[in-house]
Amino acid sequence: MHASLVATAVALALCAAAQPLLAADAQPWTDKAKSAAQRTELLLKAMTLDEKLLLVFGYASGDQLAQVDSAVIPGVNTKEVIATVIPGSAGYIPGIEHLGLPAQHQADASIGVRNPNLERTSLPSSLATAASWDPRVAEAGGKMIGREARLSGFNVMLAGGVNLAREPQNGRNFEYTGEDPLLAADMAAGLIRGVQANHIISTIKHYLINAQETGRNIVSAQIGESALRMSDALAFELAIEKSSPGSVMCSYNRINDVYACQNAFWQNKVLKGDWGYPGYVMSDWGAVHSTVLAATAGLDQQSGFPFDKAPYFAKPLKEAVEDGSVPRSRIDDMARRILWAMFDKGVMDHPLKPGPIDFAAHAQVSQAAAEQSLVLLKNEAGLLPLGAPKRVALIGSYADKAVLAGGGSASVTPIGGTAVTGLGPGGWLTQVWQPSSPMKALQRLRPQTAFTFDAGTNVESAGKAAAAADMAIVFVHQWTAESLDASLTLEGNQDAIVSAVAKANPNTVVVVESGGAILMPWEKDVKGILAAFYPGAAGGEAIARILTGEVNPSGRLPITFPASTDQLVRRQIGGKSDGPLFTVRYTEGAAVGYKWFDLHGHKPLYAFGHGLSYTSFELGGLKAEQAQKAGGQVTVKFTVKNAGKRDGASVGQVYVRAPQSAQWEAPRRLVGFDKLALKPGQTGTGAVTVDPRLLATFDESTGNWVIAPGTYEVQLGAGSDDIRATAQLVLAGRRFTSAQLRHKAR
Ligand code: BGC
Repeated sequence: MHASLVATAVALALCAAAQPLLAADAQPWTDKAKSAAQRTELLLKAMTLDEKLLLVFGYASGDQLAQVDSAVIPGVNTKEVIATVIPGSAGYIPGIEHLGLPAQHQADASIGVRNPNLERTSLPSSLATAASWDPRVAEAGGKMIGREARLSGFNVMLAGGVNLAREPQNGRNFEYTGEDPLLAADMAAGLIRGVQANHIISTIKHYLINAQETGRNIVSAQIGESALRMSDALAFELAIEKSSPGSVMCSYNRINDVYACQNAFWQNKVLKGDWGYPGYVMSDWGAVHSTVLAATAGLDQQSGFPFDKAPYFAKPLKEAVEDGSVPRSRIDDMARRILWAMFDKGVMDHPLKPGPIDFAAHAQVSQAAAEQSLVLLKNEAGLLPLGAPKRVALIGSYADKAVLAGGGSASVTPIGGTAVTGLGPGGWLTQVWQPSSPMKALQRLRPQTAFTFDAGTNVESAGKAAAAADMAIVFVHQWTAESLDASLTLEGNQDAIVSAVAKANPNTVVVVESGGAILMPWEKDVKGILAAFYPGAAGGEAIARILTGEVNPSGRLPITFPASTDQLVRRQIGGKSDGPLFTVRYTEGAAVGYKWFDLHGHKPLYAFGHGLSYTSFELGGLKAEQAQKAGGQVTVKFTVKNAGKRDGASVGQVYVRAPQSAQWEAPRRLVGFDKLALKPGQTGTGAVTVDPRLLATFDESTGNWVIAPGTYEVQLGAGSDDIRATAQLVLAGRRFTSAQLRHKAR
């Protein structure tokens, strides 16, 4: 659509939302002195059943909606919806003008505002940002995309992907925050806090254990309750506590045979019961399968109709209320949760005002995130940072003009459009290449060096280009996308290209642009490797600044890079997207990622937490203690000294190894981390307070977390494979529930 048409549509869409509220006494819920919960009750009382029902049914924009019978929901016709929705947006729920209730305009999300018609700033992939091991980086990114969302007319961001990278071949790992529940939670929570700081709602998604894309609508993830509580569910539990997202998005898959969006156990019992979640559950687009079952099992809002087979939460829900199969109190509960989120996050009090966006400033935010996040995996003989070589051959992956982005609903339309066109399956899965050239940035930073570029498609020509230079930098890429799973082997002849280049030039560095882990058959043959993930709108600049040492790399891997697929729990992804219903048994339980590798003694290619710097750090002074009083907090302190000659940042990683008697899923767990930026010679102190759930196992027969008494080993590492100090910690036994922890925290 033409940009000016889009702008008009956005303006029209927002008029309805921005109606001034009437006098406070006529509309007592407008009184800002009252709490979100009080205001919610007041507004709820003023609403009719039809108005409440209006809130629980969401539309997608787009052509499909035009085909839909206009009477899917009483009081709304789809033509009006089509006229009001922002073209190309993910979803929309109409407002109610006379109540001052704004429309909900939904957009994806985690790395930027996605809309095929709107060019917006993209952060690095969420997995890349997780590699910063610094929630402040994620929060700054969230603030930026939340600001762009408001200025674009969106007040509900479908952000906060926190599914564990349990399956390394999951094509959506780039949208998530790694394989460890604590790290994943902290990083997703940072993003959500940032988004919601703009008085808009963020989701957290996809609840729960949507660990592969193949057959995501039919697969059943089979896993025991305690294993799930200690892994994927724990990531949600911690992230929700740390960021209070307005909404939780339930996922496509089935969990132990029951569809996630109609799973009473995980929605009603765990999320809303045990965790006391006050917000609303919205469905993923096309993840609803019923009316009565879904409504009574805890789904509060059907999203993105007509992605689902039927308008389950429209007319059929009203009929179910009328015939008593869904109680009225449940409709109140659904509406209450949505209204609470709208009040609590500021959607009600801060009408949207579209306006100009400072893209230059936002590119800086994206670049800063990438510079904190890219991980230097290997650097032999001090080849990096780049000195002043006469001639450098850049090879492959459009490094002369662009960096890669992940595909699907998380892909953001770049400012200026994609730099490489015509790649990928097409449609919503068209490959996006951010127009940020590593080559141009390198040329700016090293004007004396001659940089040549070879496309990296022909082995012979790549070898020749490398042989003619003092140094070669090969860019390889793995494109991954929603709805598809990934191969860890690079596509095409990229491995052969790297091997040929390494043969032709002993000074070879590889820059990897990938969704997650890849296999590196050439790893021993090259001197340097930089994991750039999908580095975002200014990724080319960030890569160049790290290669040249303008920026000292400080990212650490949020996932394990396996040495071969033999080390994985599943060598291949199971099931088919178009086949019959199938199950995937997650036999590893909570032993996800490095925990699985530890358990089986596998030596990975690059370990969780690994990452190099151009300076060196001394880690020590480890002290772990438990406060004396019953249920006392465990705190860990340590020191880090920058023992080298450059400014740099180190991530102190604290792991705990349990005694056998504790029966953990694996020998040890990450229990905390602290990133410290230090000048040469400077010593800093890191501090970590350990969440007791990270020291416990979950006992599903009683619903308790249980800490086994005994002697534990606390490890301080610069990576999970680089432990620098250990200390003993004697723990008293303890049992507690999630609810008790929550009440204590208040
Ligand atoms: C994705 C969600 C996304 C939604 C709306 C779905 O296909 O799984 O993550 O928020 O589409 O675009």
